[in-house]
Amino acid sequence: MFDLKAYLKVKQQAVNTALRKLWDDTEPYPSLLVQAMRYSLEAGGKRMRPILCIAATEAVGASEADVMPAACALELIHTYSLIHDDLPAMDDDYLRRGKPTCHKAFNEAAAILAGDALQTAAFEVLADARQHQGGDPLKWLEVVHLIARAAGYSGMVQGQMIDISSEGKGITLEELEMLHRLKTGALIEASVRAGAILGGGNFHEVAALGAYGRHIGLAFQVADDILNVEGTPEILGKPVGSDRDLQKATFPSLMGLQKAKLHARELIDTALGELRIFGKKGKPLAALGRYIVERKR
Ligand code: IPE
Ligand code: IPE
Ligand code: MG
Ligand code: MG
Repeated sequence: MFDLKAYLKVKQQAVNTALRKLWDDTEPYPSLLVQAMRYSLEAGGKRMRPILCIAATEAVGASEADVMPAACALELIHTYSLIHDDLPAMDDDYLRRGKPTCHKAFNEAAAILAGDALQTAAFEVLADARQHQGGDPLKWLEVVHLIARAAGYSGMVQGQMIDISSEGKGITLEELEMLHRLKTGALIEASVRAGAILGGGNFHEVAALGAYGRHIGLAFQVADDILNVEGTPEILGKPVGSDRDLQKATFPSLMGLQKAKLHARELIDTALGELRIFGKKGKPLAALGRYIVERKR
């Protein structure tokens, strides 16, 4: 049987090592800005987006080293989004990844700037040809475009804007689904697609993995909503009950907890259906899909 726990551990270590190398030049005297960036980056995230990127590239027969700069870029963008998401002007949270949020540990200006710098660092890594391991420059360019679209006004940032503007308002399930697809789904789908493209997947493989990524991306945020209701801050490393306090529309609030759980599972089943063409090579992605709805953190 596929050992997901061991797989996650090995991949998390590989990603963490690659991320740490990015700051080698700044040692031993990192500036306040770099300290704030590293504080959030090294606080202990699950590294799901980089791992999905790596697992997708392995599914099409390539290896981790072929996509590591993209994997790092995805985590840099994700970490920036969490720092900004926690700011007083956004969700106003005090705990993230089991530690005080960046603006609590430093200050608001440092948190805003650390987020800004993490985002640009992502594109610095992505566009650094020395890191491309002899890969096709056009494929890297395609991935820069794909990730920029997923992170910006057509994706995550747009989702965050709609999320904040919808607080305290009644929105429909269709509107909520769109919001979740943008704020969380887009970057997760892009993570899987980037791995498939850089790994040299053919048209059918990239399409199947893109569809898988789209379904698990939505399921990921539905699971996050569920954990905000029934998770524990000790395990999650972030507060619970905050969605209700901020009057956020969520899947549990609109459908009820049980239906939301069922919906997340259905999305994963549909996602796993897309993996058939990969046979054994799709096993890590299948296990990651299941983990997304079964996780406790
Ligand atoms: C949390 O993401 C924010 C969402 C987009 C739902 P993760 O659950 O991947 O958080 P980390 O990276 O493990 O901290
Ligand atoms: C976070 O969404 C999504 C992004 C940062 C893009 P949430 O606000 O729902 O996530 P948590 O629960 O704070 O991690
Ligand atoms: Mg938020
Ligand atoms: Mg939040």
